[in-house]
Amino acid sequence: MVGIDKINFYTPNTYIELEELATHRGVDPAKFTIGIGQSKMSVPPISQDTVSMAANAAYPLLTKNDLNNIDLIVVGTETGVDESKSVASFIHNLLGIHPFAKSVDLKQACYGATAGLMMAVDFVKLHPDKKALVIGSDISRYGLNSSGEVTQGAGAVAMIISSSPSILEIEEVSVSMTKSIFDFWRPNYSKTAIVDGKFSNEAYVSFFSTLWQEYKNRTTRSFEDFSAFCFHLPYTKMGKKALMPLLDAESPSNKDLLLEHYQLSTTYSRDIGNIYTGSLYLSLMSLLESTTSSLKENQRIGFFSYGSGAVAEIFSGKLVPNFKESLLTKQHDTLLNDRISLSIDSYTDMFNDELAIDSEGNHLFKQDKTDNGVFFFKGVENHQ
Ligand code: HMG
Repeated sequence: MVGIDKINFYTPNTYIELEELATHRGVDPAKFTIGIGQSKMSVPPISQDTVSMAANAAYPLLTKNDLNNIDLIVVGTETGVDESKSVASFIHNLLGIHPFAKSVDLKQACYGATAGLMMAVDFVKLHPDKKALVIGSDISRYGLNSSGEVTQGAGAVAMIISSSPSILEIEEVSVSMTKSIFDFWRPNYSKTAIVDGKFSNEAYVSFFSTLWQEYKNRTTRSFEDFSAFCFHLPYTKMGKKALMPLLDAESPSNKDLLLEHYQLSTTYSRDIGNIYTGSLYLSLMSLLESTTSSLKENQRIGFFSYGSGAVAEIFSGKLVPNFKESLLTKQHDTLLNDRISLSIDSYTDMFNDELAIDSEGNHLFKQDKTDNGVFFFKGVENHQ
């Protein structure tokens, strides 16, 4: 049995209230909180980038045994810091993982960390005495005043994959799908994503529906074989838009339970926003760490991973006995409750804060005083 042994997330210490943003933009706040389903949005200071967030998510998980036995580090990201050097190679150094590990990034929009998870599961199946570290880390940026603005966010999820998982066994069967489309993309010359919002929603819904049919054909499973379904959540209403029509069409007897669990899986995302690659796994933590969920060992959870462009996958996992004991629920409560609310002016300044590299390749700055990250980005020295 191979699966998720440990899991953690990190999000920067600063956020904005979306009701405040709505008022500032002259939009009815209910559009953001009900229509989109988002309450708060994490805003990263310049001192938190994809590398530092990834390290902040991973380091609390690692014991000495992990540092000596992780032979694969794989980071899913679409907002890396270098076109050539992997985020994973920075992480390998920052966390002090032994020298004979391999480190690589995988890219396919928000699907990247799922590709990493699948690669890690296969790797550990082949080498059951070894472990893998899988991270999804991203900063989601559409631009001030853009229609995607309310669906931004920042954060990272880290998971350790082993052959004696304490949380979730990843099951064998999964079904993936690829179709080259332009629903959301970011050309190399652009700092913000370009999106065809309505088309991206339609693509997400249609990928889920097509994959679910294929999954049912290949597995003979139905919704009744699942206790919960976790979704990639660009905003919390999105997964429900995909799930609801199928639950209605198939009238499963556990429809209410699946909807109740869907709701519990959205709590963290509602207060953080879209963290791209880590989002699906943030949904998993939100569900498992909820005090009201009745989930038990051996119950099956379905997953829908979607990355624009587009690649998607449906897979499943089974809860391991005593999984609750391995969750970092208290730490996550503290992380979210201790955050600082920004004014819209400070958010705007932070959004516009950019590296200004001089002719020698330098730009160093001080860690923002509100930044709580153990790891943080100090700037660039000699183009490094
Ligand atoms: P929009 O045009 O601002 O919003 O775009 P809208 O007019 O479509 O309204 C949104 C919802 O609010 C609608 O509900 C309205 O009815 C409702 P729906 O019909 O969808 O159920 N509404 C209200 N509700 C209550 N009170 C009101 C009110 N007014 C309106 N007063 C959109 C919204 C999400 C398209 C935009 O924010 C956007 O483009 N976001 C970015 C793209 C995105 O998140 N796409 C999701 C699928 S693609 C994906 O998941 C991949 C991704 O994560 C990237 C990756 O893979 O790397 C994005």
